[in-house]
Amino acid sequence: MEAFLQQGYDDFRTFINPWVAARAEFSGEPFHMVSTRNGCLVDADDRVYRDFLAGWGTQLFGHRPAAIEQALRAYLDGTTPSFYTSGVSPYAGQLGKRLHDRTGYDAAYFASGGAEAVEAAMKLARAAIGRPRIAYVEGAYHGCTYGSVAMMHHGPYRDSFGPHLPQVDVLPFNDLAALDTVLADPHLAAIVVEPIQVESGVRMHSEHYLQRLCKGTATQGPLLIADEIQTGLGRTGQFLRSETWPRQPDVITLAKALGGGLIPLSAMLTRRDIFDRAYGNFALAEAHASTFSGNALACVAGLATLEQLNDTVVASVRNKGELFRERLQQAVGSSPLVSAIHGSGLLWGIELQAPDHPYFSFDYLGLPELSGQPAIGLMVMHQLYKAGYLTQVCGHAWHVLRLQPPLTTSDAELAAFAQALAHALDTLWKLQ
Ligand SMILES: Cc1ncc(COP(=O)(O)O)c(C=O)c1O
Repeated sequence: MEAFLQQGYDDFRTFINPWVAARAEFSGEPFHMVSTRNGCLVDADDRVYRDFLAGWGTQLFGHRPAAIEQALRAYLDGTTPSFYTSGVSPYAGQLGKRLHDRTGYDAAYFASGGAEAVEAAMKLARAAIGRPRIAYVEGAYHGCTYGSVAMMHHGPYRDSFGPHLPQVDVLPFNDLAALDTVLADPHLAAIVVEPIQVESGVRMHSEHYLQRLCKGTATQGPLLIADEIQTGLGRTGQFLRSETWPRQPDVITLAKALGGGLIPLSAMLTRRDIFDRAYGNFALAEAHASTFSGNALACVAGLATLEQLNDTVVASVRNKGELFRERLQQAVGSSPLVSAIHGSGLLWGIELQAPDHPYFSFDYLGLPELSGQPAIGLMVMHQLYKAGYLTQVCGHAWHVLRLQPPLTTSDAELAAFAQALAHALDTLWKLQ
């Protein structure tokens, strides 16, 4: 198996994307992983890595969780169909019901990737409300398909792909006046919001903004769409982050860990009355569709994920989050390289600031094309690799280290990470 993987790593460079391989190598990322152990990744030299990125949010219970594997094996050992030619999948039905029990939403659409769920939400809004305009918040990341990318923060994920979907307009972050203006527009179909903007630095909307957003969308008619792809499924200590909002959004999207980290699965959830306004007759019932929507294997993974993610686990995230906040604060809160720590549950951003020294620049690191971008985040990541931790910076804010360990991470492991981070920052500070 190791030979197969090694060949695959080499072939990736040739047949998939040489720049991704070069980036991983250049940054010293330990990416030659060959196995998993107790939810961690293990490389070819038998070094164990704790994934404090939880596989970009996909590995809620650590890598290759036994309970999800068992459920998938049990399904594969049976003889029930995996694909329902009629489109009426009993597995989708069961998963829709379980999601209803947890969230209250009584209409679900399933897909594979997160962006597909966002697309479904955008199309639902235009079709149900019968208006064209969709607003989103500056700094957003909703995925890379054409609908979602029209809501992308400016930069490499967006700029070279225009022209973008028309009538999709940006709102400045936390700007109440701009919110009021857009809410007054009779052409507005929806406002799409991430409860916490992870890629822009684990940024929170103000309470005041959320209140106005919830009230304004309820009275003016546009749908309130919460993209919970990063924040949902227990990540911040509630099943959905929007449970802390003044009202339930009209639509939410879920993805990433919904398939237990083993199978791609995403969902758009809404209320039946909204769904029916868009698709409630024979002519339109399947107007938005995807061949593999509701396939049995993905839904089995989804059902097993929900079973694992019971209320006790979700509540434990609140306690762990409080402990993690305290530990981070104690260990690195006063570091001269840290300007702020913010987040909730097991989703945290460490805002970093580099001293004015050439060592802390991409020019010095030999990557002049990235000059102008903060290098400090990648330097911290590199130190953490050496200590056995995988982390990442935020996609739109490279000076923010994002931390989102598996929900099963123990208190002792959270405390040990905070110490490792303190050591990493100390080492870097002494460089100058
Ligand atoms: C908030 C949010 N929405 C949507 C997406 C897109 O999901 P996917 O990459 O599965 O298409 C992401 C991906 O990171 C995300 O963070």
